[in-house]
Amino acid sequence: KASQEAEKRGWHLYLVGGAVRDLLLAENQKQVLLEDIDLVVDGFHKSADVGAGVELAKALQKIYPGVRLEVHGQFQTAALLWHKDPDLGSLWIDIATARTEFYPYPAANPEVEASSIRQDLYRRDFTINALAMRLTKPRAGELLDFFGGLLDLQSRQIRVLHANSFIEDPTRIYRAVRFAVRLNFEIEPQTESYIRYAIASGIYEQIQGKNGRAPALETRLKSELKYILQAPYWKPALQLLANLEALRCIHPTLELDEKLWWEVRLFDRCLQKFDPQKTLEHWQMRLEVLIAYLAPDFRGKVASNLQLPADSIERLENLDKAETNITQSLPKLPLKSEIVQLLRQYNLPTLILIAVRCRDVVYNVSTRTVRQKIWRYLTEWSQIKAPLNGNDLKALGYKPGKQFKEILDALLTATLDEKIDNRESAEAFVAE
Ligand code: CTP
Repeated sequence: KASQEAEKRGWHLYLVGGAVRDLLLAENQKQVLLEDIDLVVDGFHKSADVGAGVELAKALQKIYPGVRLEVHGQFQTAALLWHKDPDLGSLWIDIATARTEFYPYPAANPEVEASSIRQDLYRRDFTINALAMRLTKPRAGELLDFFGGLLDLQSRQIRVLHANSFIEDPTRIYRAVRFAVRLNFEIEPQTESYIRYAIASGIYEQIQGKNGRAPALETRLKSELKYILQAPYWKPALQLLANLEALRCIHPTLELDEKLWWEVRLFDRCLQKFDPQKTLEHWQMRLEVLIAYLAPDFRGKVASNLQLPADSIERLENLDKAETNITQSLPKLPLKSEIVQLLRQYNLPTLILIAVRCRDVVYNVSTRTVRQKIWRYLTEWSQIKAPLNGNDLKALGYKPGKQFKEILDALLTATLDEKIDNRESAEAFVAE
């Protein structure tokens, strides 16, 4: 239908981007599940404000009234959301008007002007993402490969289209890594040298808001980080990012040394154990371990630059205080009840963070003790309950109030310290 509508208006329509790449890569194209389809329409529209992409999307919405239409006027793009069936999920179709983006200064928002499909493809990140398939007649089905994308798909190479690609958009460094690891491709040597050059030239400073125009870039960096850190291949991807020194985009001092690598993997194993239902955002927790590795003064700023949620920013800002409190107090507390009282002030991610970070290269008894005690608290002690609860106390004739709460606290303390272990001893304890 989209092709027909385009043809009626004398326009060309193309399938572009990831969908073409994934279709060409798939052994069985029928098994490719496309969730995101990018179309580019090359056509002139009388109104400079609307653009052919938007008009085409509106025409499609008339044919399929159930779909949702979003128009991003500034860039002359429109998105249509189809809710397919419950098994297949939803389908986004983005329709853009063929355009070039030129960058008046690096990493700025692209300015848009109507142009031909070749120029539209030239502004893209990698050759394998710069292929297009024509959907309109004549020659519908023809593959447009201006930059050698097909050959790179066959020889499994991630290659940029021009030397400035990473300077224009540093988040492409993360995309290069993501595609390389996900598709099992190699970052082509020249492209790798462009990445290293962009990093060495301090491109990451733009992301860290130094030039006062960072937000859009940081949002994109955050979404690339999310993509990578939530993927099953996050470990090799993180290693490749570190190898390219690209973690400096998060903060110039961030390095994945052996200690951090150990922490991030141990943290992950802890999350699997303590949060199997994934109530926490695991990708974000992994990012927190990286940020926590920075000097305390940088943590809150990096987390808020990356627009992490408020609880996450707060956790990272207060981590140093929590860590000092716990590591200094814990070894001095002999009673289980005292330990529980101290640790229950902190939430699960904070405690796991502190436990995994508590590892000295030189063998040190107190850090080991801290880790073991946090571990026992999380696995056992935090779940211990007194033999009597509030309802039991009411049944014994006590009335809720200040003293009531004190009795409950005292019951828990006595249980933790093994002074009482059943109902009978608990009742005797309360009576006393
Ligand atoms: N693109 C780009 N530079 C970026 C982001 C995107 O050039 N920083 C281009 C790429 O050509 C990409 C297209 O925009 O193919 C669509 O982007 P996106 O949907 O993020 O990527 P896909 O290639 O579709 O990848 P995925 O399958 O992971 O969604």
